[in-house]
Amino acid sequence: MNKIKIKRIGILTSGGDAPGMNAAIRAFVLAAHHYHIEVIGFYHGYNGLICDESIAQSKNLTLSDVNGIIHRGGTILKSARCPQMLTQQGLEQAAITLNDKNIDALVVIGGDGSFNGLLALKQHWHGQSIGIPGTIDNDLDGTDFTIGFSTAVNTAIEAIDKIRDTADAFERIFIVELMGRHSGHITFNVGIACAAEQVLSFENFCIDDQQAKLVQLASEIKAAKENRHTSYIIVIAENLWPDGTINLAKQLNQIADIDCTACVLGHIQRGGSPVPKDRLLATKMGVAALQAIIAGENQIMIAEQHSAICYIPLEQAIKHHKRVSQRLVDAQENILALTAQTQY
Ligand code: F6P
Repeated sequence: MNKIKIKRIGILTSGGDAPGMNAAIRAFVLAAHHYHIEVIGFYHGYNGLICDESIAQSKNLTLSDVNGIIHRGGTILKSARCPQMLTQQGLEQAAITLNDKNIDALVVIGGDGSFNGLLALKQHWHGQSIGIPGTIDNDLDGTDFTIGFSTAVNTAIEAIDKIRDTADAFERIFIVELMGRHSGHITFNVGIACAAEQVLSFENFCIDDQQAKLVQLASEIKAAKENRHTSYIIVIAENLWPDGTINLAKQLNQIADIDCTACVLGHIQRGGSPVPKDRLLATKMGVAALQAIIAGENQIMIAEQHSAICYIPLEQAIKHHKRVSQRLVDAQENILALTAQTQY
């Protein structure tokens, strides 16, 4: 690896914000200042590279800018999805901005869509590109965890524990929808940790025939509730049920007379103060990103595997969505089987 003299690095946060993004920005800026490298923060994701200069789109990040932010959710740089990064014109404009500002390397904290943008940029701009995995979805391949995932899981667990209290009081059935776009990492982890009676996600519930699945679900709920006066919580991944979770609850009511309440947890899962695990991961990854740039790395994502930092080619990180561990899927199956045999 070449040792390159780096003077100025750009950083931005892109796509769905994730708790811990601020901690990563802080660590990166602290590390860069140690090496007397300037850091330019671009605002509103890739829009900060593309939009009109009349709107403040970038700022030289000082140590005081990152003071007191490690515990804050969201991102001080703001975030956005940026469809213009899918166009040649947008990519060219981004490259012009980076060249005009003499940026040697660009760090993007985000998920797969953001890393796609970073990969596409390489046709137009020849600086170093580094990704830091920041998404609550935990779906990037090559890293055990992404920044924000642990906090999102924690937030959802706290919420469902509260739902359980009221569900128990009324012996009610709830269907709680969790985020994850097309991956069940949040759904499985939260479902198991909350002792959900059912975990429905892409990995274990293939909806080939919606009507048949509805009938199956209804009979499972009825069988479980038959001799037990208890609450019943189903956690379901967003985008799983074809016409939405609220309709699933309505359909169960209509076809099987099952009175259940749908609760879409939604964006509450993206907010809040990052848990220690995310603060630590973000801090390690922020420092590692700076070290990777100094070492001459390019087109890589900072990752952590078995507690050790490593580098994964960006292409590999986004080629496939990281799968939920089969052991987790099996664990849920086993717990269900055991619970079904247990007399309460
Ligand atoms: O990628 C993070 C995420 O929160 C997904 O879990 C979810 O599907 C999506 O973003 C929601 O995006 P938006 O906030 O743009 O609706």
